[in-house]
Amino acid sequence: MRKKLIAGNWKMNLDWNEAMTLFAELIQYEKSNDTHADIAVFPPSLYLRHFYELAQDRKSSISVGAQDCSAQVKGAYTGELAASMIHSVGAKYCLVGHSERREYHRESNDILSEKVERLLEADIIPVFCCGESLADRDSDNQTFVIDNQLDGTIFELSTEQFEKIVIAYEPVWAIGTGKTAHPEQAQDMHAFIRGLVHSKYGESVASNTRILYGGSMKPKNAKELLSQPDVDGGLIGGASLKRDDFSAIIKACSRS
Ligand code: PGA
Repeated sequence: MRKKLIAGNWKMNLDWNEAMTLFAELIQYEKSNDTHADIAVFPPSLYLRHFYELAQDRKSSISVGAQDCSAQVKGAYTGELAASMIHSVGAKYCLVGHSERREYHRESNDILSEKVERLLEADIIPVFCCGESLADRDSDNQTFVIDNQLDGTIFELSTEQFEKIVIAYEPVWAIGTGKTAHPEQAQDMHAFIRGLVHSKYGESVASNTRILYGGSMKPKNAKELLSQPDVDGGLIGGASLKRDDFSAIIKACSRS
């Protein structure tokens, strides 16, 4: 049975004091409640080591992840962070191909494939994001777009490599807009993605792959989204910046 994963993508938000306060509060919440999901926080990478140490210190099971990594191994790439460095500060996960990276940094399938390779070499779990734009959805092209985003990237991996991947389905029209996919729309897309994994890697891999939903997940819609059979957790932006909202979403995960 797949355990749910609730992941908070903080993006470029919160200064040091705000971030430390919120992370400490989340640890406090996790320690004092019976949670039924894996929990991960993706802060700005600058904070990763400190978060990792705090979680270790408090014996918290909250993991930390980075929001991006370099496609290169190491060397003269000013401003970049290598997957091996991210691993060395204690990160367990890294996002790859978030729609903001695809849009603002023009990250292509080729670049994303390189990043996934670097992360797997460094023993970090890639959380691979995919999702269609509003124009794609309006022209009923969503399945074609997702197929293409997966086919040119993680579907090139060997079975052994693919087993380490987490997928996040994030319709671009739902990210930060307050518009959430209807639970049935999310379920349809998650089932479609699982079907693609099934045809590529077989039943056992498909039934073990975690597919998260992202896009305006909030306390008020979390329960319904998370109770869909193929929705294995959430990648949460805005609501992960508020302790009460994020903890309410964690709470919405029932025992599986
Ligand atoms: P949102 O962001 O929850 O604010 O829509 C989700 C994401 O970008 O991962």
